[in-house]
Amino acid sequence: MADTKVYRASTTAPVNIAVVKYWGKRDAKLNLPTNSSLSVTLSQADLRTLTTASCSTTFNDDVLLLNGEPSDLTGARTQACLRELRTRREALESKDASLPKLSAMRLLLVSENNFPTAAGLASSAAGFAALVRAIADLYELPSSPTELSLIARQGSGSACRSLFGGYVAWQMGSQADGLDSRAVEVAPASHWPEMRALILVASAAKKGVSSTSGMQQTVATSGLFQQRIADVVPRNMQSMQDAVAARDFPAFAEVTMRESNSFHATCADTYPPIFYMNDVSRAAVRAVEAINAAAGKTVAAYTFDAGPNAVIYYLEESRDLVLGAFYPLLEKLEGWKDGAKGLKSEVQFDEAVASAITSGVSRVIMTGVGEGPQKTDVYLVSEEGKPVSTSA
Ligand code: DP6
Repeated sequence: MADTKVYRASTTAPVNIAVVKYWGKRDAKLNLPTNSSLSVTLSQADLRTLTTASCSTTFNDDVLLLNGEPSDLTGARTQACLRELRTRREALESKDASLPKLSAMRLLLVSENNFPTAAGLASSAAGFAALVRAIADLYELPSSPTELSLIARQGSGSACRSLFGGYVAWQMGSQADGLDSRAVEVAPASHWPEMRALILVASAAKKGVSSTSGMQQTVATSGLFQQRIADVVPRNMQSMQDAVAARDFPAFAEVTMRESNSFHATCADTYPPIFYMNDVSRAAVRAVEAINAAAGKTVAAYTFDAGPNAVIYYLEESRDLVLGAFYPLLEKLEGWKDGAKGLKSEVQFDEAVASAITSGVSRVIMTGVGEGPQKTDVYLVSEEGKPVSTSA
């Protein structure tokens, strides 16, 4: 009898925010970077993508549904991920004739984020990590997270770091084939579980210049960038790994802030220049400086990616001081958790800083370091092969 079964696997994957930034490709096709990078994986209780991968002989096409909407699967990067995963499955099937021929079946991939798209957070890292992990589970591939990171990297560079929890490095590698450009765990979340992140959402709009095209322009035109990849990043990678190993927050914070500054400086040095930070972002920088000045030591660190949202890292022990500086300005916004409500710290912001933050931040997200992808038995595809929504 023909096999008409619907095979399924589901996984969740986290968002990560880099503290040593990936910016620049040395090979755009294989998505190989010009420098190594390091990130903190954020808790999936607050930010995660849930993806079900399914396949069946009854499916006619490869289909991807993202937050309920059909999404393009024909892009070269997605195709590279699907091809690599199918090739690995084929290899298993050719060694064991009893295995169902999943590699020849069409895929239905259904994916949902637990955070509003309107939060303006880049979700490609969590999205590609979840896609790759879910298909690898569906195919029962014996691949390790590091092996899968080589595939996810081809979908989106930063996605390779979302295959792990905790503190994660993407080693740039030196081989032309990219086989040594992969993610490794620097330390699990349990090594330094007190790490928290407050995200100030400054704009929910889609970014003006995509990371992919922005970094290509920087590589092609910025002189400062050459110094960044040759000297600045190698030093920062080492200092950051040492800071994480020693759980040294002031050192972690200084590298984080210097890295963000260095990355945005190379964006400004791109010709024509690229600006991701805006007045609200700059006010957040001043706010963090005011918090650290009031504390008499470094208790908070800002970082910005290819958009204006501020991510502020701090330790649980500094919670009242850090959250209490922002809460009185932003108490009406969504996103505060119970523990933060009513907090008020001594920190005083300049009027211009306070008013830029009050008028420019549209929501907050309170989160912290978290775990890597998790297998789940919540399915977004029914046993009959129909998409189902958990949010409906
Ligand atoms: C600023 O991973 O989105 O967030 O590989 O072209 O998909 P592509 O780029 P992407 O770039 C992320 C850049 C960054 C820094 C970082 O996450 O390291």
